[in-house]
Formats: sequence, structure tokens, C-alpha cells
Amino acid sequence: MTGDDSTTGKAAPAAAGGDDQVPQGGPAQQEMFPLTDVSREGGIEALLDSQMLEVDDRLWDGDSAVGGLTNVLYEHIQENGRTYHRYKEGKYPLPNDELEQDRLDFQHKLYRLSLDNRLYAAPIGDNPRNVLDVATGTGIWAIEFAQEHPGSHVVGTDLSPIQPTCSAPSNVTFEICDAEDEWSFPQKFDFVHMRAVVTCFRDPKAVFAQARDALQPGGYLQLRDPIMPFKFHTPPPEDCALVRWNGLLREATARIGRRWDNAQHYARWLRELGFVDVREHEEAIPLSPWAKSRRLKYLSLWLQHDMVSGLEGMSMALFTRVLGWEGAKVKEFVEEVKKDICNPSIHAYGAGVLVWGRKPLEGEVMTEPKHSAESSG
Ligand SMILES: C[S@@+](CC[C@H](N)C(=O)[O-])C[C@H]1O[C@@H](n2cnc3c(N)ncnc32)[C@H](O)[C@@H]1O
Repeated sequence: MTGDDSTTGKAAPAAAGGDDQVPQGGPAQQEMFPLTDVSREGGIEALLDSQMLEVDDRLWDGDSAVGGLTNVLYEHIQENGRTYHRYKEGKYPLPNDELEQDRLDFQHKLYRLSLDNRLYAAPIGDNPRNVLDVATGTGIWAIEFAQEHPGSHVVGTDLSPIQPTCSAPSNVTFEICDAEDEWSFPQKFDFVHMRAVVTCFRDPKAVFAQARDALQPGGYLQLRDPIMPFKFHTPPPEDCALVRWNGLLREATARIGRRWDNAQHYARWLRELGFVDVREHEEAIPLSPWAKSRRLKYLSLWLQHDMVSGLEGMSMALFTRVLGWEGAKVKEFVEEVKKDICNPSIHAYGAGVLVWGRKPLEGEVMTEPKHSAESSG
């Protein structure tokens, strides 16, 4: 069975096989291979809290986005066979070409699957009027949110004009802007959403402060991000290319002052910014099906595909622009790292967090906003 995505028109991966086995050749549709039944298992928060990694020694065995902007923004920067955003050129190091767009749409499905097919977990109520998706990418989250909430108006913003201009629902608009600039939205939002933005901001806490100011009292900010680079549940082999890649990524992102492990601070930053009812859920998804639990084996195949298809894009600009590597050397190294990503005897996993907080109502007793001495960049 092949899944059809009504939003993008792209085919989903092939479907699952038997009860105990993860299908070969890619993850299955959720209907055929239910990960959880939230109604039986104590709700979405119980699901979010149930992430535990335990090695399975049985191992899986086979079984207009651009209103008002000129066309020049569509003339993406070309480099090493990939394309990058033109507006604020050089700021964001991942590509914006079709390969990367397909990966983002695939990753969106992984995010949904890991959330019991939901788009969000914050208790925002049924009818948020104004919703903002910061750094929306292809706009897939904004579009699906708008489809599921016809009474809402959703704004998606990004540096790259890669959102659909004609096929999006009428209650979505896209704007090309930089979330690190001063925000000037005329409306206040009931819900601000940011996902997979860990690669985006020099000072994420300053961006979250702008989100707080753009929210209505009582509105929610939800953040969902990986904590990069990858972690290991058991010590990796000495010559592990993935370990080397981790180190190089750390070095490159530190040099440009944009750390990719900031998500570990999100909950604290929201509290310091005066958000209340802050909740944090840690996530851990193995990079291959080495961990016990059918759910984790299944999610691991999605993450593995996401990383294998995204690794070159994540590495190319950082390694060439910042570390001075040749493009060909990056491509060669990435192939080596992919082998480790797909090796189930290497117990690597992607860690991440899902965090949300509420802007207090006017007059509501709230914790004093604290000013952290620690730099957020
Ligand atoms: C990894 S993608 C995530 C896209 C989307 N949030 C999702 O979950 O599918 C990060 C996106 O952030 C955008 N971006 C990076 N820096 C930004 C900034 N300063 N302001 C607005 N968008 C930014 C990039 O262009 C890219 O589309």
C-alpha cells in the first residue's frame, strides 16, 4: 500500500508488514501500524513521558509566499550543487532546494507520528484565531493546521520563498522575513509555533521574547527541536565516522556562534521570560532500530531516512564555508557517516525536546521574569 499525502501530493513510504516486525524498505502508514492509542494509554502527556531507551538484543531482523518581494529572491544562491536562500544570504546554512524541501515534508510526518499524529501538544483550545508558524519551511505545518482549524488564520514566515503560493488554503498566508529582526505583526497571536529551528537563531531566547510580546495574554508558545549532535546510548566504536561528524558539527556551529544544542535550555528560558505553565518533554529516537519497542523501531526508520537524506545538506555549507573543506571531500565523508547512521550495532539516537508555555493573563500572578546571566547564543 502506498500512502498518498493530500497536502503535498507526494507519495508516502511503503506500508508495514506483520505484527512484530518493522517493514523493510521504509516506514508504514500509521493506520496499518499504530504506534499508540493515546485514549487508552493516558493521554498525550503520558505518551510524551514514556520515552525510555533500552537496547534490544534481539535486533530487528528484516522484517505568495512572497507578497511584495521581487523575483530576485527566487534566484537562490547556488553552491556545491545545492541552493540556498537569497534574502539575508548566508545566514541559514541548510539548503532550500527540492531535495531539502522533500526532506522537510518527510520530517514533518515523523514529527506528527511521534505525537500520535497531532500537530501540537500545547493545550491551545479548539479555536485559536491567530496562529504564527515561525520559520515555516515548506509551510506544511501551517497548511495542515489551517486545514484542521478553518476558523483560524495562520501566518507562516521564513527566509526562503519555498511555500506554495496557489494551493494553500485561504486561511494561510506566508511572509518572507527574518525572525531575528524586530517583529511588526499588526495582530496579536493566540498560538506561536516553532519547530526544527535549532539551526536558525544566534540568540533563540531573544526570538522567544518577541514571540511572548506578539502573543495575546493567555496565548501559548510551543517549541519542538532536536538537541544536536547525536548522542550514544552505549560507547561507539573508536573509528566511528558519526563521532567525527558530531565533533566537526560542534566545531563549525560554535565558530559561527549558532549552537545546535540550545534546545536543552528552552524550558528554562521560557520561565525566565515570564511564561507560566511551562511543560517540557524530552524525546529520544534511535537512529536505527536497535532499541526495544515497536514504536521506537518504527520511528527510528523514519529518523534514519530523514538523516540519510539530510546529512549532506546539514553538512555542506558548514563544512565548506566554516571549516574550509572541499565540496567533494564533504560528499565522501557524508557517505561514510551514513553507513554508521544505518548500522544498528551503533546505538546512536537523536535527542530533542517539546516545550510549551503560556503567556500570563493580565493581572495573573506570575513569576518575575528573571534575567539569565548566561548568554543564550
Ligand atoms: C529545518 S527548517 C524547519 C522548517 C519547519 N519549521 C518545519 O518544521 O518543517 C528551518 C527553516 O527555518 C528557516 N529560517 C532559518 N533562519 C531563519 C530566520 N532567521 N528567520 C526566519 N526563518 C528562518 C529556514 O529557511 C528553514 O526553512
